[in-house]
Amino acid sequence: MKAFRGEILSVLEDPAAAGPEAIRHFEDGLLVVADGLVLACGAYAELAQRFADVPVERVQGLIVPGLVDAHVHYPQIGCIASHGEQLMQWLERHIFPAEQAFADRGHADEVAGFFLDELLRHGTTSALVFATVHAASVDALFEAALRRDMRIVSGKVLMDRGPDGLCDTVASGRADTEALIARWRGRGRLGYAVTPRFVPTSSDEQLADAGAMLAAHPDVLMHTHLSENRGEIAFVAERFPAAPDYLDVYDRFGMVGPRSVFAHCVHMDDRALSRMAEAGAGIAFCPTSNMFLGSGLFDLAQADRHGVRIGIGTDIGAGTSLSVLHTLGEAYRTCQLRGASLDPFRALYFATAGGARVMGIADRVGSLLPGQEADFILLDANATPLLARRCAGASLHDRLFALQVLGGDRAVAATFLRGRRVSVPSRSVSRLGLDARR
Ligand code: GUN
Ligand code: ZN
Repeated sequence: MKAFRGEILSVLEDPAAAGPEAIRHFEDGLLVVADGLVLACGAYAELAQRFADVPVERVQGLIVPGLVDAHVHYPQIGCIASHGEQLMQWLERHIFPAEQAFADRGHADEVAGFFLDELLRHGTTSALVFATVHAASVDALFEAALRRDMRIVSGKVLMDRGPDGLCDTVASGRADTEALIARWRGRGRLGYAVTPRFVPTSSDEQLADAGAMLAAHPDVLMHTHLSENRGEIAFVAERFPAAPDYLDVYDRFGMVGPRSVFAHCVHMDDRALSRMAEAGAGIAFCPTSNMFLGSGLFDLAQADRHGVRIGIGTDIGAGTSLSVLHTLGEAYRTCQLRGASLDPFRALYFATAGGARVMGIADRVGSLLPGQEADFILLDANATPLLARRCAGASLHDRLFALQVLGGDRAVAATFLRGRRVSVPSRSVSRLGLDARR
């Protein structure tokens, strides 16, 4: 057993719906951890006596739950900042060639290790991750995540339409998916997501198969992209002229339900959002990616009118930062451009318990409630001279907002997985070499 004493903040529910009671803040708090789980979390003055025998580590900074990245592509980590295109051309020119390299298991192992260490360094402890079409790309990620004890949900990408070297078939996609589910079920803190890339890269037969696998395995998620880019949407509309919208195509194949996570949802009509809310499906809001690829501005107020669940995705390599904290600052800017204001506590909810809910892991992580896994991070409002200046004497609201606007990896002073401080190996740039950068 061990305890951490310091300032603690978590947001249990969406404050836009639940009000300020959703926010739990202890200026002088105590987080007690036993066997990797939260045993108690509250005001130090109230808990000190009960846990007088437990060794206490005093921490500097703000304790918040570990961050949740609800949509990210690990094989694209080396493609970040690829210049000049919108979605479809960007995929063909930059992404598909890089993903082809994951036929090599050694390459996948190296990238997976780098990616997960970077997640931890940025304060991300749980993530919903795209791999590639290669089953071994999932093995590489899961093995690396198991070694680090991270909560990672991933799956082999299903795509039976696309470039050479990056396609499966309906039969191989199903066989690989079933084998991966069987191989990884119940191991560590890992979870599986049936992962059709998006409608344009799967045949009708494969989409139907994805829906069937989702139905056959009640413990897996469905993870895909939806309504990101106008060209993509036009392509889908042409192929499915009878469908009222893009979501309906997924719906026809049994892929819209409470375990479904759709990245982007930039261009949505009310019918589709209302259907998502009714089904309990979640959206991964990816503001840096939407800005970078010129996809458009996610409309949070529109999604709110229907009560759709929201998480935050960095969507590397279209996203421009692996920092979920920084991505919240970009989410704020996106909302400003849509004439709305994103509250920093609500933003933190999206990045923790909200993302966990979208991923179906909210009973395990995201709120620092007793019984949850003790994944948390320490945010340092003194990480840079500018942050320190802005945060000196500032309210919690203002500090939290400044951390989102000005913070990034440097604002994450420490990351804890199941109560254990993570030490991320430092990597010299020269050691990475050119090959590993793809
Ligand atoms: N849609 C289909 N594949 C992708 C991808 O790899 N990245 C993004 N941003 N959108 C996609
Ligand atoms: Zn994506």
